[in-house]
This record gives sequence, C-alpha cells and structure tokens, in this order.
Amino acid sequence: MNVLESLPHAALQQWITDMATQCQPESIHLCDGSDAEYNALCQQLVEKGTFIRLNPAKRPNSFACFSDPSDVARVEDRTYICSLRKEDAGPTNNWVHPKDMKNILTPLLAGCMKGRTMYVIPFSMGPIGSALSHIGVQITDSEYVVINMKIMTRMGQQALNVLGDSGDFVKCVHTVGAPLAAGAQDSKWPCNPTVKYIVHYPEERSIVSYGSGYGGNALLGKKCFALRIASSMASEEGWLAEHMLILGAESPKGEKTYIAAAFPSACGKTNFAMLIPPKSFKGWKITTVGDDIAWLKPREDGRLYAINPEAGYFGVAPGTNEKTNPNAMTTIRANTIFTNVAITADNDVWWEGMTKNVPDGMTDWHGKPYDKASGKPAAHPNARFTAPAYQNPVIDPRWEDPNGVRIRAFIMGGRRSTTVPLVYQAFNWNFGVYMGATMGSETTAAAFGEVGKVRRDPFAMLPFCGYHMADYFNHWLNFGRNLQSPPRLFSVNWFRKDENGAFLWPGFGDNMRVLKWVIERVRGRACAVESPIGWMPRYENMDWTGSDFTPQQFEQLMTIDREEWKNELVGHQELFERMYDKLPKEFYFMRQLLLSSLWRSPEQWSMEAEEA
Ligand code: OXD
Ligand code: MN
Repeated sequence: MNVLESLPHAALQQWITDMATQCQPESIHLCDGSDAEYNALCQQLVEKGTFIRLNPAKRPNSFACFSDPSDVARVEDRTYICSLRKEDAGPTNNWVHPKDMKNILTPLLAGCMKGRTMYVIPFSMGPIGSALSHIGVQITDSEYVVINMKIMTRMGQQALNVLGDSGDFVKCVHTVGAPLAAGAQDSKWPCNPTVKYIVHYPEERSIVSYGSGYGGNALLGKKCFALRIASSMASEEGWLAEHMLILGAESPKGEKTYIAAAFPSACGKTNFAMLIPPKSFKGWKITTVGDDIAWLKPREDGRLYAINPEAGYFGVAPGTNEKTNPNAMTTIRANTIFTNVAITADNDVWWEGMTKNVPDGMTDWHGKPYDKASGKPAAHPNARFTAPAYQNPVIDPRWEDPNGVRIRAFIMGGRRSTTVPLVYQAFNWNFGVYMGATMGSETTAAAFGEVGKVRRDPFAMLPFCGYHMADYFNHWLNFGRNLQSPPRLFSVNWFRKDENGAFLWPGFGDNMRVLKWVIERVRGRACAVESPIGWMPRYENMDWTGSDFTPQQFEQLMTIDREEWKNELVGHQELFERMYDKLPKEFYFMRQLLLSSLWRSPEQWSMEAEEA
C-alpha cells in the first residue's frame, strides 16, 4: 500500500484503503495521467490480445478492440438511482433503497478484483481549476477504462493537485466483476456476462458500477457523474448539468454566438457539433465546445455560461464518413481507441457507412473473418471511437475557458418522422421548458425495441436524470425565473418524412440555415410568424442561398397538422400522468393553452404575422 502514503488527502487515502480491503486486488496503481503510463497500459493490452495495434502509417498510435458480445451498450434496466427516498428517484428511474442495494453489492464487491490491479484515477470534469469543474476519483480493475479515462477527462496528478489535502470528490467504484483465480488465463474482454449494476447514490455523491467494461457503464466521469450525479448536485446548488452539445457559430463579421443543444442518442449530435456550413455560407464557421454534455451556471451578470466537462469524444462510429462528418474523421485519424469496429486487411478500421464499398478480407467485431454475404454488419451498430477533443480541427478556441462560454439559445430535437416541424421557437422560457419536457424521439434499430415508436425523452435526459424528472422540470422553470437574460429555446426536427418515407429535409450542412435563423432570432434580427405552438420562420425569413429548396417543400416541412398535434398532446398527457405527483402545475395550463390554440386556422396565424 506504499503508493497511498504519498497522498496528502487523508479521506481519499482511507477510502482507497477500504476499497482495497473489500475488493482484494493484487496491487494498487495510482494513475499519474502521464503519456508514459498511457503507452505502457496500451502495450500491456496489446500483449494480452485485448488491443490490436492499428497500422501506424494509417492510424498512428491507435488501437482497436472487441468487447464481449454481451457488453456492447449502456444497460438502462440495470441502472439505479438509490436515493434515500423512492420519491426522489421518481417514476422514470429504477430505485432500490441504498441499504438494500449495499446488501446486494457488498458480497459482489468482496474479492471482485482478485488477481487484478486496482487503478486509482483522480480526474477533473471540466478544465483544471475552473469554478465550474468538479473532481472525481474512480477506482477500476480495467486497463481499458484507465486508457479511455485519460482521453475523456483531465486525469492524474493534475486532478490530485486540485483536490489538495481535503477537497471534495465524487467516489466512483468500477469493477468488471470478473476476479481472476491464481494462474488462470484472463479473457480479452473481462466482464460479468450475467450480473451488471450501475448504481448511483445521489446523497453520498458516489457511484458503483459492476460487471461491464462498456464506456457508458464504465467510464464513470461521463453519464454516471457528469449527468446523473451532477444533475442532482446542480438541482441542489442552482446550476444545470445537461445532455447537450455546445457549439460556437461565428458570422462573417466575426460575431460569435454559443448555443447548447439536446438530442437523444442516435440523432446526429456529433455531426451537429461539428457542422460544416454550406459553401454558399461564406465566412460562417462552426466550432465545437462539446459534443455530449454541458454544465451551465449563471454568473453575477445574470447570464448563463457553459463548460464541456469532458476532454474527449466517445462517439458512435457507424454512419460517420468524409461526407457526413469530415471533422470527426480528422479527429480520429490518430491517438484513438476503437471499440467493436471492423478491422481491414491492412489493419485499419471500417464500419457500416464509412465507405460505399465494403472492403474485402475484413475481421468483424466478433474477431472473425467477415463474410460479406452474411447480411450482418461488420461493425456493431454501437461501435465507438474514443478520441481527444483537441484533435478536432474545428475545436472552439475557448473550449477550455475556465469561465465557460455564454449560451444564448437552447436547441432541442428528436427524431420525428411526422408532426414536429423543422424549427420553431418557444413563446417564452416556460413554454420552452414544456417543449423540452415533452420531447420525443422515434426508436431506431440500434436502440430500444420496437422501431419507429415515439419514446418521450425529456431534454434527452430520460436515462440520465439523477432525480425525479418532475423535480427536474421544476428546477428548470425556477432556474429561468432567476436569469436576467435567459437563453431562448427552440425545437428542431431534421427527420420529418413525406408520405413515401423520404426525408423532407437534407440535414447535415443545411442545418446551418436553421442555425442562422436561430442566431438571428436571439439577436433580435429575424422575423417569425406566431403559430399555435410557437414562433416559426416564414420561407423568406431563412437564408436559402445556394439551395433549391422551394417554398412548397418548406410548407410541407413546417406544417402543423391539427389532428397530429391533438395526438401529440395526448402523448404529453401520458407522460405527465407518469409523474403527476410532482409535475409543475404550469404544465397543465400550457397544455390546455396549446390545445385551444390548435383550433385557430392557419389563415388566422398568417394574418397575425402580417400585423406583427
Ligand atoms: C451517448 C449516449 O453515448 O447518449 O452519448 O448514449
Ligand atoms: Mn450522449
């Protein structure tokens, strides 16, 4: 235990000692976060057969690995919010009393690291030393986790320095749940194929993750800390921890606008965070502050500032290519870890959608020769890359600004083939919170059973809110009341389809047209028409340079169909009934107002526009 003696933080030392006594690792390694440590661990995984070193000429200092087929995604049904009171976890979270959960976990943790090294990873979520940042310490028995945490967070000695001898930290315990008997051969992807628990104790600000090595379950800084625990901290302390990307938009005149955007998984979040404007938008530049999570705090000036708590991207690989996201392709050119992608004959990576032609002679994500005729994908649909954010060619120059960037708008969107128009602005903060709360997304083949069913995913936080979702809505409503210049709130939908199932909107770079309208709106320069659900652009209010998109196509994309919206509001009611005990009463009134507005005819709203 000598390594621990150098730690000036007595409580940290005690906690590690206690965990070691419980988990019984063979040794303890305190991570310093150095490149030498990273390289040595990568080499160790190569020697064990977990990592495949990719062709250095094509993908320098990069590695691929295949997980156990049982361990490829987040496990929402095994994820628990163990608050002291059930009503604090709410109806959308799994809940077990902390005492009962500890009775389950204590025997599982006893000796769980036998035959393995226990790594201690001090890490900062957010730029080192920023008042918006928070420190965590993760213990893990997985080298893969240490390597990924080095990319995804600021870890090692720098985080210990912030902690000093008495700083607060979130306790994060992770084990793959696969103790090694003396002399036994380890598997390439150790995990527990049958028992998994992802457990959060919001009052203790601690996390225990058992049985999985998959990123979303095992890199505890990300979903577990930066969203579930942080959202609970934020509601107590008066800030926001959100499942949002942050982007900067610079106009040809050099005017910079920062925007945060919430999208559920599988809605092209990384593409939007790295958007390349159409060629006709000369002089416009989009830069990335973050691709997944935003922490936002108000400052004395009454404005809202955001940081990206992460330092890397844990992105979905399939579908990413030089057309859909050339910036992501550049980001992952080197120093990247790939999980569950296919490997080409010349030791590079491949996934569905990367190129039109499927290369010959690949190894699939099971590590087997890929049979093109099989009809099965070569890469897992949730195959991932882990890459340092600084490699993003459009990283925002202020992405590590300890003060954060001022957010002027929130954009929220799901995948909806009907009903929801391309873009609209909420009438005010309260209607915006209602809009975020009732967001929905259609399920895709990659996730959650029945394809095409609308899954309500409030603020894209359904799997990530560490407390009662209705308390979260109340927190948002209150939060806005206390801001002097609150950001404006917008809904977008890139995925509306026509009656033949074809997308009505080209998406990708063309989303810049929507973004520009949003920017002009928040700066008080763009016109809009009042519709029953919010403010919408007319065709002529958007910039169509370089596009042949017609007013008729726009009309179709923006239609608010009365019958569809009545159904939509029934869907809202179903969500509200699930959390009626704590639902903000404002929501019932807003729903009624929306319903009554639907009885006005489209002619009526265009007349109002003439007058506006
Ligand atoms: C993610 C997710 O991995 O939202 O970011 O599922
Ligand atoms: Mn996410």
